Amino acid sequence: MIEFKNIRKSFGAKLILDDVSLSVETGSIFFIIGTSGAGKSVLVKHLIGLLKPDSGRIILDGEDITNLSEKEFFRIRKKCAMVFQHSTLFDSMTLIENVALPLRKHFRLTQKQALDGAMARLGQVNMEGMAFRYPADIGDGLRKRVAIARALTLDPDFVIFDEPTTGLDPLAAINVDRLIRNLADEHNVTSIVVSHDLRSIFGIADRIAMIYKGRIRLDGPPDAFQESEDPVIRQFIRGEAHGPMEI
Ligand SMILES: Nc1ncnc2c1ncn2[C@@H]1O[C@H](COP(=O)(O)OP(=O)(O)OP(=O)(O)O)[C@@H](O)[C@H]1O
Ligand SMILES: [Mg+2]
Repeated sequence: MIEFKNIRKSFGAKLILDDVSLSVETGSIFFIIGTSGAGKSVLVKHLIGLLKPDSGRIILDGEDITNLSEKEFFRIRKKCAMVFQHSTLFDSMTLIENVALPLRKHFRLTQKQALDGAMARLGQVNMEGMAFRYPADIGDGLRKRVAIARALTLDPDFVIFDEPTTGLDPLAAINVDRLIRNLADEHNVTSIVVSHDLRSIFGIADRIAMIYKGRIRLDGPPDAFQESEDPVIRQFIRGEAHGPMEI
């Protein structure tokens, strides 16, 4: 289980998160939605220690990780992986070398063992055939799949997906959704997905929270969002240009 308790975070004078609390059940898929700049990426970066809150607590499987040192976060990042919004593959390495990197960093594996493990992960996202290509040789959708394979290398219990389907064609997006659903259903992986892809949100979310003006506007199952009469929620889920939110 992942718990954010009363998180506050400002950058300079700008208050981004104002008392945000959320609980994510083990083995579930939790979506965080909101307009651009709402603080979605800022919130999830707290989970792997890339940001520290000004106040509030972050609890992972019962352990308070709020004030762990950088060294202690090394352990956390083994069980909690993040697929970043902007793909971060190394251009000078082949795809399989990119995926093997966490294995070599965290375990004392030979190059061959690491590459075998990486190939298995590439298979999981149907990318074995391209293992020896370079990131620059493939499109965004495929790069995203490789970034997901890399995040899964260490068999994480928790995975944060920041905009996993943005910019993908519909088929590639459906494949990514299936993979996330499968991780939850078959491997009891807990996922937090940051997204504004409505198809994905209403396709695979177990629960959704919307951040608006630094606070949680609504936190509930997909039905609660479909049925909400809150004009902010309605505008978001209908993708309307006009409404209370300035776009
Ligand atoms: N390291 C930082 N230093 C200063 N300001 C930051 C930093 N990171 C984020 N911000 C600001 O915090 C706000 C929220 O950013 P965040 O990246 O969380 O938005 P988001 O909801 O993920 O938006 P998007 O949908 O565009 O990815 C933005 O105004 C951003 O400029
Ligand atoms: Mg973001």
